[in-house]
Amino acid sequence: MTLLADRFSTIFRDEHRAVRDALLELLEAFEQRSCEQAMDRLLYIAALTGPHFRYEEETMYPSLVPTFGTDYVRRLYVDHDGAIASAKRLVALAGQDELSDADVTEAVALVRTILPHVSDCDGLSLMVERLSDADVQSILDARDRCNEAGIDLLSWDEKVRKEPSLPVA
Ligand SMILES: [Fe+2]
Ligand SMILES: [Fe+2]
Repeated sequence: MTLLADRFSTIFRDEHRAVRDALLELLEAFEQRSCEQAMDRLLYIAALTGPHFRYEEETMYPSLVPTFGTDYVRRLYVDHDGAIASAKRLVALAGQDELSDADVTEAVALVRTILPHVSDCDGLSLMVERLSDADVQSILDARDRCNEAGIDLLSWDEKVRKEPSLPVA
């Protein structure tokens, strides 16, 4: 593994850690029926995941096609579709004045559909480590570009991301 790949894996792991922690806090907020806390965590998660999903989809996932093939990589986009749909529903739930038992059950289940993508996605760095330094650098460049643009998950989905389950070139 090169130094650059090592650097990428560290950055990638830290980003997933931040999302993991915020999702667990979100779970707790819903369990405690705090709409305010839940919305606070959702906005934070949307800010973190907007640029993250974007550089994954625009650069990293396509670069993994030669490794995994299109079927698996397509599934990664479909996982994002699911996470985005869940995030939208969670925002609607947290936007209410109060949460019913059914709301809490639904919200907890939705957060739990997102959590596995965080750990699954983190494992992809094991394969990124086998890419050329030029490919790893282009992922890091895409990351810088997406962080600079700083578009949150839902705005990115509405305004930039072209269609659900983007076909893999
Ligand atoms: Fe990820
Ligand atoms: Fe992802």
